Amino acid sequence: MILGIECTAHTFGIGVVHNKKILANIRDMYRPEKGGIVPLDAAKHHQHIALSLYQQALDKANINEKNIKAIALSNAPGLAPCLLEGLRFAQQKAQSLSIPIIPVNHCIAHLEIGQHEGARDPVLLYTSGANTQIIAFSSGKYRVFGETLDIGIGNFLDKFARHVGIPFPGGPFIEKEAKKGTYIELPYTLKGMDVSFSGLYTKLIQLYNNKIPPPDLCFSLQETAFAMLVEAAERALAHTEKKELVLGGGVACNTRLQEMCKVMCKERKARFFCPKKEFLIDNAAMIAYTGELMFKAGVFSPPSQVNIEPRERTDEVDVTWK
Ligand code: ATP
Ligand code: FE2
Repeated sequence: MILGIECTAHTFGIGVVHNKKILANIRDMYRPEKGGIVPLDAAKHHQHIALSLYQQALDKANINEKNIKAIALSNAPGLAPCLLEGLRFAQQKAQSLSIPIIPVNHCIAHLEIGQHEGARDPVLLYTSGANTQIIAFSSGKYRVFGETLDIGIGNFLDKFARHVGIPFPGGPFIEKEAKKGTYIELPYTLKGMDVSFSGLYTKLIQLYNNKIPPPDLCFSLQETAFAMLVEAAERALAHTEKKELVLGGGVACNTRLQEMCKVMCKERKARFFCPKKEFLIDNAAMIAYTGELMFKAGVFSPPSQVNIEPRERTDEVDVTWK
């Protein structure tokens, strides 16, 4: 059994995996009363909730903590106070059980869990809060072929939603509003396989201030931003000659984005994979799942030697387990 801990930002979670089977995936999210995430408050939330989620996960998996072989910890990238809280909890448990810690990169876990669906060598369209990247595996690393040149797609959605008075997370609200809207042309920015959202954001705010109905803005925003992402992913498929696309990260919960990916893949005769919602948003099952792959390849450390890496990038990690 591998126990996984997710702690990089707003969500604290505990997951249990055994031979790629997910036995528990418990999570709790810190919600700021207003505005964005306050890192120290998110860390306090994690500290407060950790032990109770740990117990719930063991109960759900129906195991004793003595069955745990190693603890997988999302030690990178993320908000330092949150990562430190996760590290403290992982070290305390690992030391008391005399087991090692597996340091897992959160973004790579989003990618690995996508491949749990059956893809072998995909292009990954990773669309989360802070990250928007087109990634594919090549020569021992997950290489970034394209990415956002400014903010992540999720942060862009949340920022727009906040401007129109919707609390975090804004993505689900925008998806709902979009169903009632019609199309307005908006700036479309794709350079090679890179995208950018700042021009789109500025235009949306102008239109909102000019009293254009929010449903039309939500609809057009989704059509434009998602088309940019899907076209970038299509370019990566063409460039790498790969035949599979995996969608990952919280924004992948959006059914319109999923549909656009499906259509593009069908036209290119590529296969399309998208995990279930509970594995798309931040969760600890993906950390435990990736941790198990790494553990079997010998990647783990004594608890005292593990540290946090708040700024580690996806393409910095040596992927020795593939
Ligand atoms: P990162 O993984 O880059 O550190 P994160 O952990 O904050 O960022 P996730 O938990 O993967 O990101 O995703 C959260 C994002 O997903 C939020 O921006 C939220 O608005 C967005 N989101 C969730 N559901 C939907 C939806 N149905 N449509 C669009 N966006 C959505
Ligand atoms: Fe995430």
